[in-house]
Amino acid sequence: MSVLIKGGLVVTATGSTTADVYVEGEKVKAVGRELQYRADEVVDAKGMYVLPGAIDPHTHLSMPFMGTYSEDDFETGTIAAACGGTTSIVDFELQQKGESLQGVVERKKALAGGKAVIDFSFHPGVVDPTPAVIEEVKKAIQDYGTPSFKIFMVYDFRVDDGIMLKLLAETKKHGGLVQVHAENFYVIQYLNELFAKEGKLAPIYHAKSRPNLAEEEAIGRAVKMVELTGSRLYIVHLSSREGLQKVKEARDRGVEIYAETCPQYLVLDEERYNEPGWGGAKYVMSPPLRTRESLEALWGGLRGGDLQVVATDHCPFKFKGKKDMFGKEDYKKIPNGAPGIETMLMLLHTEGVARGRLRLERMVDVLSTGTARMFGLKDKGAVAAGKDADIVVFNPKQKFTITQGKLHMNVDYTPYEGMEMTGMPQLVYSRGKKVAEWSVDRVKFVGPSGWGKFVRREPFAGF
Ligand code: URP
Ligand code: ZN
Ligand code: ZN
Repeated sequence: MSVLIKGGLVVTATGSTTADVYVEGEKVKAVGRELQYRADEVVDAKGMYVLPGAIDPHTHLSMPFMGTYSEDDFETGTIAAACGGTTSIVDFELQQKGESLQGVVERKKALAGGKAVIDFSFHPGVVDPTPAVIEEVKKAIQDYGTPSFKIFMVYDFRVDDGIMLKLLAETKKHGGLVQVHAENFYVIQYLNELFAKEGKLAPIYHAKSRPNLAEEEAIGRAVKMVELTGSRLYIVHLSSREGLQKVKEARDRGVEIYAETCPQYLVLDEERYNEPGWGGAKYVMSPPLRTRESLEALWGGLRGGDLQVVATDHCPFKFKGKKDMFGKEDYKKIPNGAPGIETMLMLLHTEGVARGRLRLERMVDVLSTGTARMFGLKDKGAVAAGKDADIVVFNPKQKFTITQGKLHMNVDYTPYEGMEMTGMPQLVYSRGKKVAEWSVDRVKFVGPSGWGKFVRREPFAGF
């Protein structure tokens, strides 16, 4: 099967040019003007952007969490991703007690294989860091194709500073990357207890119990550990102005710190927790939504390069029966996480590019090119000869009002209900296979089931 995409604006992280793109089989064969290939399918892309498919390196599909499961599996979750213009994901799975890293990877492969419709990889979550597991890091990086590891400074399964130091040192030695959920556990515990005594249990207290300084302190501490070990670190879902400031200061001193933020922290603010009828539960995620000052600071961080990646932290729970039931009387029992795997590209384009907060090329960088580099996805991240033909033909003028009924995630709400989008995927290709297309008033999935493949990732090669 071959495809010739004609006359679109081909956007890369470093520049944009009007060109044709010729795809043969699963690969991009050529990018250039007036290409003369005969193709099975010819796409007129005038007025469209031709983008590399987005890569979402932070998803939680079919993951046990807080007494329940995240509600998208690899089929529903990746169908939703494809419809939003995402063509690869790197999903998290936490170790079970006593489980090896290989066990984590193989267990998750069994869940994803035959179901995922786009390509996937995993970051093992290290929550039972026995000496054997620390030693196994080398194999995970070099043999399993999973060179990045998530650890938590919060939750019951957090690691202590001693383990973090060991993991940082070991990972750096073998070419891997530690990713950290950075919030100060004790600050949160203290405030939780205080609010409980005062009977403050509504969803807004989820945010109040996790103030910006909890993130700021944890990032500051993590930075010191990186300096001590001469290692490198990636902060997941960075949410606050103060946290960003810590990252910036460290980077300015030459410390190897990278960070991602997520659309929810760029677009939504703390006011959401006051939605009536326990509606604030929809936005209970950790870290929590912040105030407007943090939102604008994060856009600045993306522009200035202190934030290198945007990811979704897609961890969906239905509102009815999960978000509203489990925590009806107490914010601490609300499962943490929100849906977002489908809405990343449209939100970044609408709120970033169309509003002049982010250049188009920078959007491609933080959604795809930089992400591929950060996580060793060598065949992904650009529309260029030799790369996988993971391509989004994107209509920058297409209007779309986000509404749950037109999305594909296996939940009953979207945090972005009613928001007006400017710019939507017109066609989405995964390794040359058409998987999604705009149809009348929404994007529809048109791909084969189980098309996605496990991608072995390369060790960290510098950023
Ligand atoms: O609230 C969140 N973010 N849930 C998913 C787990 C995590 O901490 O990333
Ligand atoms: Zn986290
Ligand atoms: Zn997460």
